[in-house]
Amino acid sequence: MLSIWTDIQRRRLRAGNIPGHVAVIMDGNGTWAARRGLPRTAGHSRGAEALRRVTTEAAALGVKYLTVYAFSTENWKRPQAEIRHLMDLFAKYLREKVPDLVKNKITIRFLGGLKKFSPPLQKLMKTAEQKTTYAASPLLTVNVMLNYGGRAEIVHAANAALKVGEKKLTEETFTKYLFTAGLPDPDLLIRTSGQLRLSNFLLWQSAYTEFWFTRKCWPDFDGRLFRQAVRSFQRRQRRQGALHA
Ligand code: FPP
Repeated sequence: MLSIWTDIQRRRLRAGNIPGHVAVIMDGNGTWAARRGLPRTAGHSRGAEALRRVTTEAAALGVKYLTVYAFSTENWKRPQAEIRHLMDLFAKYLREKVPDLVKNKITIRFLGGLKKFSPPLQKLMKTAEQKTTYAASPLLTVNVMLNYGGRAEIVHAANAALKVGEKKLTEETFTKYLFTAGLPDPDLLIRTSGQLRLSNFLLWQSAYTEFWFTRKCWPDFDGRLFRQAVRSFQRRQRRQGALHA
């Protein structure tokens, strides 16, 4: 049940400038679990629930793109059992949640070096993308970044441009070769768990992004914190190098 207070907060925020694109570094799953004497995998499972809550809130506020860092190029260095759990979690999410996404007119996209994932998981991703493609524009698009690294993406883009014989690139033409081609740059980037760094996420795209950090671990993240981040965004003056916004 939606509380009256939540409804009022959402209306107030919607009357202001809603960030069209929000990026999220979902950090602190392991810390959350360790604090409770649970295995790290329990933190990831609870993290998947937090992602569902945030997706609901982003859609309710009118955010158009939500881009989440689900697995980095560096995450392959983690113990095999943890990697396997994450892969199982992605597969479970895809098997169970697609009807919910369709019901709510939400599109899901997977971006990154996807070929490194098992063929059955790649197939699930493709099917989920197909099933959540609509004739009319979606309410919200969720981009799940997998086997993603900002530097690797830039090098991949440069090589793709060379391959098709580009002679001279501009900032505009270069962005066509990034995984995020066609997406606007993020307006707001949220990172949980008290870490104050970008960790190789959206290096090119976040040149003028506003950052918002919280000490809360990702499994504890919810709609209320998402609204707090959006409220902070609305109070900022974005100048992007000029004198006035
Ligand atoms: C970082 O926390 C989190 C990850 C590497 C995995 C993120 C994945 C999810 C939230 C699962 C849900 C995603 C989908 C698409 C279903 P950490 O393990 O680095 O935490 P720590 O810094 O406390 O160790």
